Amino acid sequence: MESTALLTADHNRIRGLFARFHEAQEAENVGAMADLAERIFRELRVHTTIEEEIFYSEVRRGDDELEDAVAEGLEEHHVVDVLIGEAEDLTPGEEAWVAKLTVLIENVEHHAGEEETELFPLVRRSFAADDLEGQARRLEARKAQLGAPVIADKEHLSVEDLRQLAQEQEIPGRASMNREELLATVAPG
Ligand SMILES: [Fe+2]
Ligand SMILES: [Fe+2]
Repeated sequence: MESTALLTADHNRIRGLFARFHEAQEAENVGAMADLAERIFRELRVHTTIEEEIFYSEVRRGDDELEDAVAEGLEEHHVVDVLIGEAEDLTPGEEAWVAKLTVLIENVEHHAGEEETELFPLVRRSFAADDLEGQARRLEARKAQLGAPVIADKEHLSVEDLRQLAQEQEIPGRASMNREELLATVAPG
């Protein structure tokens, strides 16, 4: 699997958490909102860390267009980081916390969409598949160091298990994912 596919899998897992957060919000279930917010923060911290340490730092050297796209990405990560820090200082469920989470989610949706439609295609055009597969292995190794689940932790799951988890986790696009994509995307449960 290439690095861009692995990072897109992270995005979709996080989008699933966003969908569940919105449902908890509609149900006015503050406990579930708080729990999902914690998972969202954890996922985002790991994702932006591995992107910055490995992916951004390696692809930005490709050319000027990549350099600009990465510079913009770093600023967007900074905004996400600030919003998470501010949300953590508030009480889950209070008006300002909900507003903060809403803006955080909107920002991340925009940022992830831009990576998938602009940065990642540029990267795939500029780097060989072998390079991107090596990069994916380094991303996974760093994830493991950070204590986050990696593909190897899920290899024992059957396709049926993976489909079940993807449904529970409201992973977008799950119906058309193959085993490899499901493995990269679902949380171990
Ligand atoms: Fe990013
Ligand atoms: Fe990303």
